Amino acid sequence: MSLLIKNGEIVTAAERMHADIYCEGETITRIGKGLDAPAGTRIIDAAGKYVFPGFIDPHVHIHLPFMGTLTKDTHRTGSQAALVGGTTTYIEMLAPSRHEDLMAGYRLWNELAEGNSACDYTFHIGVSKYDAGAEAQLREIVADGMTSFKVFLSYKGFFGVNDEELFRTLTLAKELGVIVTAHCENDELVAQLQAQLLAAGRTGPEWHEPSRPERVEADGTNHFATFLEITGARGYVVHLSCAPALAAALAAKERGVSLAIECVVPHLVLDKTYAERPDFEGAKYVMSPPLRDKRNQKPLWDALAAGLVDTVATDHAPFDFKGQKEMGRGDFTKIPNGIPTIEDRVNLLYTYGVSRGNLSLERFVSAASTRAAQLFGLYPRKGTVAVGADADLVVYDPNYRGRISATTQAMNVDYSGFEGVEIDGRPSVVTVRGEVAAMDGKFVGDPGRGKLLRRTPAG
Ligand code: URP
Ligand code: ZN
Ligand code: ZN
Repeated sequence: MSLLIKNGEIVTAAERMHADIYCEGETITRIGKGLDAPAGTRIIDAAGKYVFPGFIDPHVHIHLPFMGTLTKDTHRTGSQAALVGGTTTYIEMLAPSRHEDLMAGYRLWNELAEGNSACDYTFHIGVSKYDAGAEAQLREIVADGMTSFKVFLSYKGFFGVNDEELFRTLTLAKELGVIVTAHCENDELVAQLQAQLLAAGRTGPEWHEPSRPERVEADGTNHFATFLEITGARGYVVHLSCAPALAAALAAKERGVSLAIECVVPHLVLDKTYAERPDFEGAKYVMSPPLRDKRNQKPLWDALAAGLVDTVATDHAPFDFKGQKEMGRGDFTKIPNGIPTIEDRVNLLYTYGVSRGNLSLERFVSAASTRAAQLFGLYPRKGTVAVGADADLVVYDPNYRGRISATTQAMNVDYSGFEGVEIDGRPSVVTVRGEVAAMDGKFVGDPGRGKLLRRTPAG
């Protein structure tokens, strides 16, 4: 099967050009003006549209047993929602808790994805415990091509690692050339503040942010950076949400620490007033780190525009409002943390970034695709439009106007954190390795076509 995308404006992280793209089988084989194609080629007219590389979400949770419950999406629903929104590859966290066996978890997470994902996928290996047994398994899974780790400095006793485990994880990562992604919050401060607030009768979702204030995240970020500095490992801070944490990360980079920065769409678009909505509706907006005071957004957008923030992900963690978020009525510490965003990331980043003048098209592509591919060992197979790359392409219509609604979304969750938000563009055609997977807001592909992406450590 061959595919010709004609008349579009190709945008990569480095350049923009008007040219056609010819794909043979799963690969881009020609890029040029006025390309012709043999009979039988599927032709897509992209006049007036952008052609972007398939977008990559480097931080999603599809199967996440967490806080006494389980995320709602499966790979079937999550991958189709991702594709409708232009994401053609995602990186899920392999997330057994410290009480479970890592290798059994690796097998389970693979079984859940294999044959069920419509988009390509790979895993960050969650390191929730470090001992001799875990180390041997980590070496084995890295050798199988999963070349990134994930650690939590919070959620101790479940996912979180202590300082000895953090040190040993980073030391191994340095040896193997593996990058370590980290959720950075000071766990003890969170525990103490939660206890104080609950004792004072402050139990609603609006108290989630005060229990994990900006300084708690800045401290976690600085802590992680110090451990990177001492061990020489490469790090990546996930869902950085506020100016003090950004300052801590940038100060570390300034002194030579290898630290990449991820922001997520909820922190760029929403703020803590959403979690203050009455009648427990604020629970829909409980995630960690929390939605912040709005004044934090400009520094994040500025750093993103300047290339100081590397990627924009989702931290997609879909829990229903009914029956799941409701578990935390009367105690905000029991509200499952997470905001479902996998379907809306690209459109929201385009709308609030490119359309509102906060981000150039090239930076948009870099943050939503190219940098993730480079950092996590997928580039140049993924993350760019080039001869030899996988034919993962997004023909994007900047003239589309619409609104986000839970009533029309593909994500398997009963609310949208972005209900009613207007979007200024959307993918008209999305391809995965040369086959059309989504068109104009609908999944039209093969539900089980996604492949596990084995990687080598990126430099
Ligand atoms: O609130 C969040 N972020 N939920 C998902 C788990 C995590 O911390 O990444
Ligand atoms: Zn996290
Ligand atoms: Zn996460």
